[in-house]
Amino acid sequence: MSMQWKEEYATGLPKIDDQHRQLFKFVNDLEVLVADWPCHQDRLGSLLSFLDAYTRSHFVYEESCMYRMNCPSARDNREAHKRFLRFFGDWQEEYRKNGASGETLDELRMTLEDWLASHICKIDTRLKECAHTV
Ligand SMILES: [Fe+2]
Repeated sequence: MSMQWKEEYATGLPKIDDQHRQLFKFVNDLEVLVADWPCHQDRLGSLLSFLDAYTRSHFVYEESCMYRMNCPSARDNREAHKRFLRFFGDWQEEYRKNGASGETLDELRMTLEDWLASHICKIDTRLKECAHTV
């Protein structure tokens, strides 16, 4: 069921936690869209564009925080973000060429959900250890 923000996702930086909550909201919006697919398919394009733009600006902000705080995971974080953007870019290209089905969208939703939860827990939360440096 929908992605809920939990205490274990806390990074020690409220602004980043808020951005993660917003990303969860996008994934939940996608879930609603998939549930009714193809009733509101006209909303998919704008949802993907918002998600793409929001993710990029969130990554830039989060990476700058990690480097500024000398977080040991800064490099891993940037690499993981790059891989994610490559995956998401490829997915969108495929969508622009061939469209999407309820099934491919649900796969995307699950991938986003798994990636976000595990990335936040394994990498982003390392910020907590460095929060005292700022
Ligand atoms: Fe991250």
